[in-house]
Amino acid sequence: MDYCLLLLIFTSANFFPEQTTATIKLSFPKTVLGQFASSVERCPPETTNAGMHQASALCNIDNQLFNPPKILNCSLTLDTILSWVSGATPEQKLNLASSTQILTSIPEQLTPHNITHAAKITNVLLSDQQTAQTKDIAVLAVATVSQLLSAHHEKYSSVDQAAISQLTQTLQKLSLREEPNPLLVQPNMAVHSLKGKMPIKQVQLTYFKGLNDTFSPDRIQLHTTDDKISKDRVDFQMNIILGKDFAEDVGFVLYDNDLFFKSKSFQPSLDTKRRVISANVHENSEIEQVRFAVTPSADSTLSINDYACVFWSYEKQDWITDGCTKTESPSGHLVCKCERQKNANFAILMAYDINYQYSEALHWISISGCAMSVVGLCITALYQILTRKSRGSTPTLLVVNICISMMVFYLLFIFGINNPVQHVNVTKMSVQNIVPESDYHKYRDQGPCTAFTALLQFFLLATFTWNTLYGLNVFLLFKNSVSGTPSWFPKVSMAVGWGLPAVIVGISLGSTYRVDEPLGYRQEEFCWLASMDHRQKFSIKKPMFWGFVLPLLLMLISSTAILLHFSYNICRTNPNLNRSRKTPLKKKILSSFSLAVMLGLSWVSGYILLITQEKNLRLILSVVFCLLSTTQGIQIFILFALRPFLNSNPAILNSLRAPEIGFHKKSFSLRKYKMSESKETYKSTYDDSA
Ligand SMILES: *[C@@H]1O[C@H](CO)[C@@H](O)[C@H](O)[C@H]1NC(C)=O
Ligand SMILES: *[C@@H]1O[C@H](CO)[C@@H](O)[C@H](O)[C@H]1NC(C)=O
Ligand SMILES: *[C@@H]1O[C@H](CO)[C@@H](O)[C@H](O)[C@H]1NC(C)=O
Repeated sequence: MDYCLLLLIFTSANFFPEQTTATIKLSFPKTVLGQFASSVERCPPETTNAGMHQASALCNIDNQLFNPPKILNCSLTLDTILSWVSGATPEQKLNLASSTQILTSIPEQLTPHNITHAAKITNVLLSDQQTAQTKDIAVLAVATVSQLLSAHHEKYSSVDQAAISQLTQTLQKLSLREEPNPLLVQPNMAVHSLKGKMPIKQVQLTYFKGLNDTFSPDRIQLHTTDDKISKDRVDFQMNIILGKDFAEDVGFVLYDNDLFFKSKSFQPSLDTKRRVISANVHENSEIEQVRFAVTPSADSTLSINDYACVFWSYEKQDWITDGCTKTESPSGHLVCKCERQKNANFAILMAYDINYQYSEALHWISISGCAMSVVGLCITALYQILTRKSRGSTPTLLVVNICISMMVFYLLFIFGINNPVQHVNVTKMSVQNIVPESDYHKYRDQGPCTAFTALLQFFLLATFTWNTLYGLNVFLLFKNSVSGTPSWFPKVSMAVGWGLPAVIVGISLGSTYRVDEPLGYRQEEFCWLASMDHRQKFSIKKPMFWGFVLPLLLMLISSTAILLHFSYNICRTNPNLNRSRKTPLKKKILSSFSLAVMLGLSWVSGYILLITQEKNLRLILSVVFCLLSTTQGIQIFILFALRPFLNSNPAILNSLRAPEIGFHKKSFSLRKYKMSESKETYKSTYDDSA
């Protein structure tokens, strides 16, 4: 590719309307031939256009040098230009055209208002009668429109559609008026024309693929016969078969995207773009048929599901398919034919499937971690139920429910986390030419993955809720050390422990799930809550955040608050006083808290495991996940089954004394307090072995 190299000049500037002059230094960066360069120098901070490029210069195709730069009056706005442009002389119009080009040269700064204004200005500039300046104005106007087309698509939602409609129609007329000129090919839009000097039957426009996606003059070719062109390098092609066989002008307008054509029926949601090509002839000429074909882009994340051949109806302000048919060529091109459409803007609307990276089956290491946990939890629950008499019903209720919800969660995780219904290579193009609703092909939900997601969400939330209730129970015991847990506590626990998760799951499903669009609620790669927005960024509007992370954080915060309250009170009172009662309670609070943290950690590692594709990392994460989930099962087993069992069977404990594992040491010291106190009082407050 050829460039104009850096330019540094000192120039005296002439501004419109007052002809004051000043000398300024300007420098321009390396620029592609035929494109405009913006000066490095910007408008000074005190001016209206502070930060805007101060000048622009065209990189001349013939001599590879910059043309003399055009300088911007830094207090000029698009508003002012619009109010002046209609009454300006051709020389002044040229000046205003270059000012508009500079003022729209930073696409990120364009507002919908600016786009509307620039469209209106360009419209007036291009509607002018032939004068000496027309050609230069046309080049500046096409460059301006090209810049408008690189603004973000969201800005176009509030742009004045009437102004845009008029602009596209003016550009169609321009394509018939202008002589062929490579300068009318700018990165996002191109105007190409053929002056009918000899009788022709058909015109073929071919656009070749390049390194770059943007338009460039050397990749556009016009032929007047059906020449054989090597098909593999073609990006898109349009054939026009004329009604009568005589000298005619044909004009093409190429748009790199469809921002100017805002459809009501086709609402893209993926980040795809569609080129729009208009084919134009004069009033008294006829087009018999337009054929156009594109090579679908080879994008690894998307694969085409279906497409439609359309043209723009200015009347309906929408894409329509009247008179167009589609055929798929054997070489994989998408081919369209439209009969008798004169001066229309054609496009191919494609609907894609996302090529999801489905999560791989869990590694046996992860599965064994979960399985160990399930065994530990199962034994603990049984032990707790069998020995409930010695303990009282409330602690048993809490522990058994923690065990059940956690156990079901692990079982669901092993068997249900991988999506059982995977859409892989299901492309079936239909014969009908129907405008798709979106560039994203939606599938109706088949059910199992959504059900697993809802159950996983429910049981994981339930585990955390029950764990928090356990902490709350210890807190209440501490508060009312004499009377014990309030009598309402078990009933309320049952209602909250299972009711709260159900309510959260209900709200999540109700507000985000649709049979036609299940991915508002869940993910497709594996069965878990949706977390990303359409830009693949974590979004707080998705159920993963408010239906899971947020409740979880609130519960962890309340657990932490209970823990802090407890520690504070113990420190405040005489540490030796009542120690026997408070120490085991503190231990329970601590263990409930550590359980919540462990559960959170193991879930996070499981989640990362699912979204990771890299093999070695997956293996490491499998091991981490296995360790964490196993530790949890064992932690619960020791806390709620093994230790109470040993405590109630001192003989076994004594025989185990010799190996002296760190953990048992603690239970010894506990036992000593227990011995030293009257068993009655102790029981009425709280049973340590619960
Ligand atoms: C720039 O334009 C403003 C009107 O917007 C005008 O008042 C001012 O004189 C112009 N500056 C120069 C240097 O021409
Ligand atoms: C662009 O529009 C904003 C208001 O939306 C306005 O303040 C600004 O001056 C405009 N920019 C130009 C260059 O006219
Ligand atoms: C593509 O074109 C743009 C604009 O002309 C240029 O900035 C960019 O460097 C080009 N990229 C390649 C790979 O040629």
